Amino acid sequence: MTDLKKILQFSEELCLSAGEILNRNFGKIKEVKNKSTAIDLCTNADIESEEFIIKKIQETFPKHSILSEETGELDSDSEYLWVIDPLDGTTNFTHNLPIFAVSIGLVKKGQGTICGTVYNPAADKLFCAAKNKGAFLNKKPISTTSSTTLSKSLLASGFPYSHDKYYDLSFSIFKDFYDRTQGVRRLGAASLDLCFVAMGRFDGFYEFNLKPWDICAGALIANEAGATCSDWDNSKLPDSGVRILCSNGNIHNEMVDVLNQEQYKIFYDLK
Ligand code: IPD
Ligand code: CA
Ligand code: CA
Repeated sequence: MTDLKKILQFSEELCLSAGEILNRNFGKIKEVKNKSTAIDLCTNADIESEEFIIKKIQETFPKHSILSEETGELDSDSEYLWVIDPLDGTTNFTHNLPIFAVSIGLVKKGQGTICGTVYNPAADKLFCAAKNKGAFLNKKPISTTSSTTLSKSLLASGFPYSHDKYYDLSFSIFKDFYDRTQGVRRLGAASLDLCFVAMGRFDGFYEFNLKPWDICAGALIANEAGATCSDWDNSKLPDSGVRILCSNGNIHNEMVDVLNQEQYKIFYDLK
């Protein structure tokens, strides 16, 4: 199965089924484990969703490589790599806040992300995109906002789990944007932040210290909806997720100007 349309359909169905697993567990989580820090969480729903997704991919595309948040890399030296966040927004999930998603992206060597699906099961919202084929929400085309200035914009952002030397500065950036916009929201699921730029809820989104599985699918969906995705200085978006800036395009330069002030150059030390 190499046809892009069929692959997209497979990925959509995978997201919907993994979303059912999350919905079934939602509100019933009893045990929460800690990962890198006391606030970096993992539940049985993260694991169950991930095991299901990996099994299905391995059955259908046995030769493809997989990069998944809880399992890591299953490398088979293929030109295809599935990049998976089985539950984006685990903190929300454990607090019964219905802002969480399944995120599945497919990267092809030399072409970047060719297919992306993000599903918010609590709201039954399925976002999807295939490269050069547009972006869709529940099968209807979506596009970004047309705001032309930061002062008329609503942004989204997030903060990493590690409270290190970048921590205070990340709040300065947040305040900087807060002073220049109509507001900045912190919803807690990066894949949905990107999809919300794609569908015109937010005019822009920025974050740092994300991982490939947080942005792989969402960035394609945003791009296909007309958004611009880049590094904070407007250079090529790092696949690692170490820094991301996504906007409707019109306000991109204004956001780049804020993020590239001298006091924030330290964020480029992050690789
Ligand atoms: C997190 C969410 C959150 C972002 C964090 C991510 P997780 O993913 O996307 O919005 O701010 O940095 O790690 O841990 O819930 O999959
Ligand atoms: Ca995530
Ligand atoms: Ca996750």
